[in-house]
Amino acid sequence: MAHKNLIVCDEKTLSKDISGKIYIVTGANSGVGLETTRQLVKQGAHVVMACRRVNAGEEARATFKELKGTSEVMACDLADLQSVRDFVTAFKSKHTQLDGLMCNAGMVNMENKPKYTKHGFEYTWSASYFGHFLMTELLLDVLKSTKESRMAIISSVVHAGSPKSRPKVHLDDLHHKKRKYNNFEAYGEAKVAVVLYAKELAERLNGTGVTTASIHPGWARSNFGSGGSFLIRTIMKIVQPFVKGMTDSSAEAAQASLHCLLSDDARNHSGAYFSQHSVLYRDKECKKGGWPMQSPNPNAHDMDTARKLVKESYKLVGLQS
Ligand SMILES: NC(=O)c1ccc[n+]([C@@H]2O[C@H](COP(=O)([O-])OP(=O)(O)OC[C@H]3O[C@@H](n4cnc5c(N)ncnc54)[C@H](OP(=O)(O)O)[C@@H]3O)[C@@H](O)[C@H]2O)c1
Repeated sequence: MAHKNLIVCDEKTLSKDISGKIYIVTGANSGVGLETTRQLVKQGAHVVMACRRVNAGEEARATFKELKGTSEVMACDLADLQSVRDFVTAFKSKHTQLDGLMCNAGMVNMENKPKYTKHGFEYTWSASYFGHFLMTELLLDVLKSTKESRMAIISSVVHAGSPKSRPKVHLDDLHHKKRKYNNFEAYGEAKVAVVLYAKELAERLNGTGVTTASIHPGWARSNFGSGGSFLIRTIMKIVQPFVKGMTDSSAEAAQASLHCLLSDDARNHSGAYFSQHSVLYRDKECKKGGWPMQSPNPNAHDMDTARKLVKESYKLVGLQS
């Protein structure tokens, strides 16, 4: 049974015929991304599934056979800047239109010891923020030339922190090399970066017809966190029955993404944060979520940091600003 606070898309949004529209969903082979993709295909769209593991993408795609729309899998490892560039080149060689870019993929480094990409980026940041940053910037021309296109990116309740401790972007140590490493700190900070990026991009794209959003999808029963050590996986298994009543299915957790991609109203709130309900918010007033909702973390509203982060990101991923 759905949680009493679950926020769901309205019927109109989920019954729109979106035949002829093209979407990209990153991490489309699993969890929230898979269910977002399934609904878009069900409503008639063509979805380009950007997957790190192509085989897993193809397996997922095989479950859409009976649906109205179409899909294809393209390789993309967000933690590898060249792979992101190759993905965009492959996409552009086939498509000249992009109605929605769903930056969904993400992970947390479960090992709690620093893990870096081959470019020296902290891994969690790379999968959540830097890879999506590069992908989005390289696709801006196609987004701008497509009427009323949208970009949405997944954050997390973790970005909110608590009134006593709010995650923030450390512009002087984006790769977590100058501090004692903590995996959930890295995850929370990357998810602040994502909220700031959606805001900065909305400001930059104002008047172009492209809108943006950041999202907390809810606490989803997906594969999230399954990459941990034997100990962590065992703890998760033991804990699972107790949290079942508090968590949502991946299809329920896809609702906020679908709202941002498809609803008429989401376009009126470009740059905003859309949150599913969550018992994990430490600020009581946030627990019910909201589409949109004000993040309780002041660091996620700091436009000066947002602009500096984007400027620095341009340099780090090798783009001209
Ligand atoms: N589950 C939750 O409770 C929860 C709560 C808040 C926010 N979120 C966010 O929701 C999003 C979706 O997560 P989920 O719950 O659906 O988890 P999931 O089932 O683990 O799916 C995550 C997806 O991201 C992909 N991915 C991870 N690293 C990648 C990389 N370097 N390059 C390309 N793809 C990569 C994974 O690919 P592989 O299958 O190859 O690993 C997978 O397809 C994430 O951004 C996560 O941070 C989840």
